[in-house]
Amino acid sequence: MKELQNRLRSELYNQELFETAHTLGMEYIENIESQDVYPSQENLNLLDHFDHELNSKGLAANKILNFLQKNGSPNTIAQIGGRYFGFVNGSAIPAALAVKSLSVIWDQCGGLYVSSPINAKLETVCEKWLIDLFGLPTNSKAGFVSGTSMANLSAITAARYHILQKQGWDVNECGLNGAPPIRIIAHKQTHASVKKTLTILGLGLQNIEWMEADDQGRADINTLPELDDTCIVILQAGNVNSGAFDDFEYICNKARASGSWVHIDGAFGLWARTSSALKHLTKGIEKADSWAVDGHKTLNTPYDNGIVICRHEKSFVSSLHANGEYLVFSDKRDPILYGPEMSKRSRAIELWATMMSLGKKGIDDLVHGLHNSANQFAQGLSDLGFEICNDVVFNQVLAYYKDNETTESILYSVQNSGRTWMAGSKWNDKSVIRISVCSWMTSENDIKEVLSLFENAIKSH
Ligand SMILES: Cc1ncc(COP(=O)(O)O)c(C=O)c1O
Repeated sequence: MKELQNRLRSELYNQELFETAHTLGMEYIENIESQDVYPSQENLNLLDHFDHELNSKGLAANKILNFLQKNGSPNTIAQIGGRYFGFVNGSAIPAALAVKSLSVIWDQCGGLYVSSPINAKLETVCEKWLIDLFGLPTNSKAGFVSGTSMANLSAITAARYHILQKQGWDVNECGLNGAPPIRIIAHKQTHASVKKTLTILGLGLQNIEWMEADDQGRADINTLPELDDTCIVILQAGNVNSGAFDDFEYICNKARASGSWVHIDGAFGLWARTSSALKHLTKGIEKADSWAVDGHKTLNTPYDNGIVICRHEKSFVSSLHANGEYLVFSDKRDPILYGPEMSKRSRAIELWATMMSLGKKGIDDLVHGLHNSANQFAQGLSDLGFEICNDVVFNQVLAYYKDNETTESILYSVQNSGRTWMAGSKWNDKSVIRISVCSWMTSENDIKEVLSLFENAIKSH
């Protein structure tokens, strides 16, 4: 152990090691606007170098760093640049990247106030700012989790506890065997992460009362069943394909009158609420009981940044927090109370830095700017002869060219250029090209370059 300690100590104080890491990171940033978005096959072959047995004596830190730079860096996706339109993956605001690199060295365990006062403080600040930005009930509490999947899981865990508690059943103590019924109402375009949550929580996909979805992927309100106080209703701010928003006003009013719990999956769409031009899409959303949203999508925080917000603090905390003799709670915020994790990294630091960097006006500009870029894309694609299959209400564009086969082949050749990347999807039985504009960096030139790739792909088809 002593020998090992000596080696590790000398590496910790090896300034050159950390400076090299920093320099390599800066070189990556310098090339981000010109480099290809997706690795070439030649680069992907470098990944084979990672296939070896774990060595016995360990390796010097500088060698590990160089090895990763050589074989790993060429196999990243240039997501922080302006030509990546895959899934709903955001870029990262520079101030947040910078504070993240500092806080990586702090390496805080963010579970308790005593394990990281700075993380606890910034969670408190972010909670207040977010509730204000989204215009949610001021008594709501927020938890900082890895992404919207965990935020959905956390919120619906609280909802399950709340609904059963009202019926005199403590799910923490008694579990689900013999529990009173919970009715789950969701619609057919509900995101996969919500379905996963329902399976994890033992609520069962077969038990869902499915509402139909309309042609934009919104809940069809005509298929909303009669609600009562045993219901959890799950709605969506931003359909993962079309970007469409459910009718919160109508459904939340019905839910409130019946005592149902409404959960909103707003992974990327809840941010519409922060833009004066797009806020109308979220009308009535404040009447829900819980909300899930990502920092790492529309807001452009670095990755691993989700938020759950809940208006019922007692159910939220009772359903999620853990107790242990060894835990040291404070009279300040203990993050462990507001989510399923105990040890966790201090992700609120980047969220705080992002909001500090943009300010309210900058957030509005960013969100609205993504929408404008999506419209430019849609117009350009339509000029090239594509059918735009969705109403571009937010940042998502679904494009189709002649038939499924042609659309897929055009997508494939644009992806193969390496200069950009977006995925395909299925929309109303059609194969579509799915463009999600989610980077602060996307410029008119980026859009022009990508449109010319589409034009060439059509010509060579
Ligand atoms: C509507 C919606 N819900 C949930 C998720 C899952 O979010 P995360 O990947 O942050 O867990 C996504 C991801 O794209 C989404 O679009």
